[in-house]
Amino acid sequence: MLAQFGVEATFLDMSDPARVRAAMRPSTRLVWMETPSNPMLKVFDVAAIAEVARSHGIPLAVDSTFATPVLQQPLALGATLVVHSTTKYLNGHSDVVGGAVMTSDDALADKLHFLQKSVGGVPSPFDCYLVLRGLKTLGVRMRRHVESARGIAEWLARHPRVGRVRYPGLVSHEGHALAERQMSGPGGMISFELSGSLAQASAFLRALRIFACAESLGGVESLAEHPAIMTHASMSAEVRRSLGIGDGLLRLSIGLEDPGDLLADLERGFAAAGRA
Ligand SMILES: Cc1ncc(COP(=O)(O)O)c(C=O)c1O
Repeated sequence: MLAQFGVEATFLDMSDPARVRAAMRPSTRLVWMETPSNPMLKVFDVAAIAEVARSHGIPLAVDSTFATPVLQQPLALGATLVVHSTTKYLNGHSDVVGGAVMTSDDALADKLHFLQKSVGGVPSPFDCYLVLRGLKTLGVRMRRHVESARGIAEWLARHPRVGRVRYPGLVSHEGHALAERQMSGPGGMISFELSGSLAQASAFLRALRIFACAESLGGVESLAEHPAIMTHASMSAEVRRSLGIGDGLLRLSIGLEDPGDLLADLERGFAAAGRA
């Protein structure tokens, strides 16, 4: 969207902070990262990348939506800006669309306030009330999201119909040690490879009764979706392939329901995929 205003972006995998340093251009004005990332659940080193940005005299902005402020505090790790989709965990009840930006830089905060006031990109008072109400239970909700997601990720990793499971809480995850260091919990989002084709993935999603097949995430109710044809359908097939977003990839947002009921629901999905 920003390209039409003359803003150029260099997209890269930030797993190695040296790659971020090498990608810096004289015109670079901001480093923007998302960790854990959507939908591949990659974890990037906020402190190391903040250092790269600082050495170039520019700010680092971190989209910390998947982690929430309960599990990750990028400003304390050296980022200048943090953004959250309040649509997700902060509100937590799937009845608001909104976002928030936080900064440790007073001058930038003044600019953002002025922009909000003059451009008008602000949520309604009722939406603010809903997000504030959601925030009151954020801590307990996140504890339960993490507890359930951890159990489900471990179960998926043992399941015969499942290939790779992407969840930062699994020891097999390439960013596990980093997640342990910079987060106080691996979150409630899981992606995994279902063995088979689009037909199997479709049968899996159609069979679910508790997980709703829907985009968005971070609410009290569990959601399941297919990134290649839903959340990430607007990317070109080539970009999706380069990111590993294939026909077998499914993403789960683990809600607050009984974890046993969620496992039974997923098993119903796998059985349907097996018949497809
Ligand atoms: C990590 C992350 N950031 C930002 C957004 C955008 O959120 P919104 O739908 O509130 O604009 C999303 C939406 O999926 C997201 O997953």
